[in-house]
Amino acid sequence: MFKSRVLALLACLGLAACEQAQLQGPIGGGEVFVSEFRSGETVLTGLSTTDETSLIALVGQETFDSYNALQIMALVGLNTFDNPDFDPDTWYVMGVQGGFDYDADGNGLPDQAPIQVFGTVHALVTGEHLNEGGFSITPVTEAAYRYAVEMADGISDEALHDLLDDAAGALVEDTDDDEDVDYDDVIGWNRLLYSQQLLADIDALTSAVAAGASESTIIAAALALFPEAPPEPAPEPEADPEEYFAQFASDVVQLRCGGCHRVGGSASRTRHVLQPTSNRNHIALNTDMYRALVQQEGADYILNKSLGNRHGGGNRLGRFPDDFEILETFLSLLEDG
Ligand code: HEC
Repeated sequence: MFKSRVLALLACLGLAACEQAQLQGPIGGGEVFVSEFRSGETVLTGLSTTDETSLIALVGQETFDSYNALQIMALVGLNTFDNPDFDPDTWYVMGVQGGFDYDADGNGLPDQAPIQVFGTVHALVTGEHLNEGGFSITPVTEAAYRYAVEMADGISDEALHDLLDDAAGALVEDTDDDEDVDYDDVIGWNRLLYSQQLLADIDALTSAVAAGASESTIIAAALALFPEAPPEPAPEPEADPEEYFAQFASDVVQLRCGGCHRVGGSASRTRHVLQPTSNRNHIALNTDMYRALVQQEGADYILNKSLGNRHGGGNRLGRFPDDFEILETFLSLLEDG
């Protein structure tokens, strides 16, 4: 088994079933884990990527000393699975935690003293990818992984694949020469072979992972690489209308309606008069005002006015769909309540 592993590692940058972990340079001695993407269940731990020590143990000091810089860059940071048998259609997360970056200054040559890595690099891959190997776990796959986590809720595995294919163009150019940029190019990319094909500026993300920065820092650095940041999750409707008003709707109506719908304003003689935020009870009083108006006229009456339908104040929210949605949610909570 030892022998076959040596051969597999040596052939790694060719075709064999192995993976390389890279941050700036290859990550040696990083702990490898695999978990199921959807369930989060860990399915494999206990391996680590090759480093100087393990390579010497495998090939002997003499052979190791004969390696040139490029060979070291290609042989550190590798992982092979013995007889991998992952479910081909399931999405997995392969992660490499900690270890040492063998080219932290990114000059393409192994560093004298590799620099410790404090974070984890992830790649989202199918069981088929894991069984076949031949991909790299890099800041580029980290970015795609964070993007997928953000977007994957409630979509099928198929749709997730399409989404990743679409997102690939923000990160890399074609690496497998199939004249198409898709997710295969994301997991196929690595610094050693495809530095020219990198499109995204992954420096901030690389440093954040190296330093073991907080999840939120890493997520922000990753999502910043995609042109259209995924939409903020819509505010969860709180069960309690007054709570929801305090959190979201009050700001909207004070800004968009309060200019006229206040004591002394041009719409002060309507039933829609907002107490100013200087009134300590404004949340409760304004919620009650809306509750009464919804009871008398229904939510649509107010929503229609806000869009300029038979409204002295014209179209106030037509250009602000997010604000409209908040008002709509608030009023529907009042209608339900
Ligand atoms: C530029 C001034 C102005 C702004 C801003 C304004 N309105 Fe009005 N609104 C009026 C006037 C004037 C009336 C009275 C005439 C009418 O009913 O359309 C009115 C009436 C209303 C009424 C009817 C109240 C009743 O007693 O039947 C509702 C509901 C209403 N507006 C909702 C809104 C909402 C919601 C906003 C903010 C998203 C808003 N308005 C912003 C001027 C304004």
